[in-house]
Amino acid sequence: MIKFITETTEYLVDKGFENPEIGIILGTGLGQLTNEIEVIREVSYNHIPNFPTATVEFHKGKFIYGHLSGKKVVVMQGRFHVYEGYSLQDVTFPVRIMEKLGIKTLLVSNAAGAINLNFKKGDLMLIDDHINLQGSSPLAFKGVEELGERFTDMSAPYNLEINAKFKSIAKTHNIKLHEGVYASVVGPQLETRAEYRMLKIIGADAVGMSTVPEIIVANHLNMKVAAISVLTDECDPDNLKPVDISEIIATAGKAEPNMITLFKELIKEL
Ligand code: HPA
Repeated sequence: MIKFITETTEYLVDKGFENPEIGIILGTGLGQLTNEIEVIREVSYNHIPNFPTATVEFHKGKFIYGHLSGKKVVVMQGRFHVYEGYSLQDVTFPVRIMEKLGIKTLLVSNAAGAINLNFKKGDLMLIDDHINLQGSSPLAFKGVEELGERFTDMSAPYNLEINAKFKSIAKTHNIKLHEGVYASVVGPQLETRAEYRMLKIIGADAVGMSTVPEIIVANHLNMKVAAISVLTDECDPDNLKPVDISEIIATAGKAEPNMITLFKELIKEL
């Protein structure tokens, strides 16, 4: 793993990815933030050595380096999911690369279903804690202790100061921002009614198929982390309608301007 990390990092440094401060992972239907970036370099995932190749069609799959709100950022447009057949180590490999490039802070977005029915389609939710239901850990491999503490602390995986800033920015800009617990499942099938009931009982406010592996690894690497979900559908087990993935993407797109405002304003304050 260390050899691969070094090789990939050297490739990107060579391409001009110099000393980014902040890493950003953009979720499904949330790629427009890249239009706000003064792009210096971009590289498709399939050109990056040791990178898994992007498979899901609606993810463009590239690493972008540039300036956003006056800071040097590295952005992942499109991420990897376990449901595409990748391992948890593959899914989180880019986080290890961003850390080696120099980032200290990781900001993550995703699309998620609303389990808390007080939350509505199109609303945003700041993640304040998570439940890992992906069946394993991205830290469960031989040699993990060479990269960081094996028994990574998870008492506060989401940075409280950043979350406070997000809440105050949301207030200033009149953006509705809930706060809650994100449960991450493997997918790619959506949940059954019984699964939605279970998720509610165990304390989830939202459910999705990403983010938690990256957050775990970012904590393994002692980075400051924050994440926001766009709630794209309402998961009411007593009134469940078939989900249309194109509708999920469209809803994410509609909520995107608010997400962009939150990220841009936050980065100014970091
Ligand atoms: N489950 C339910 N609804 C969703 C999900 C999910 O994983 N992702 C986006 N909407």
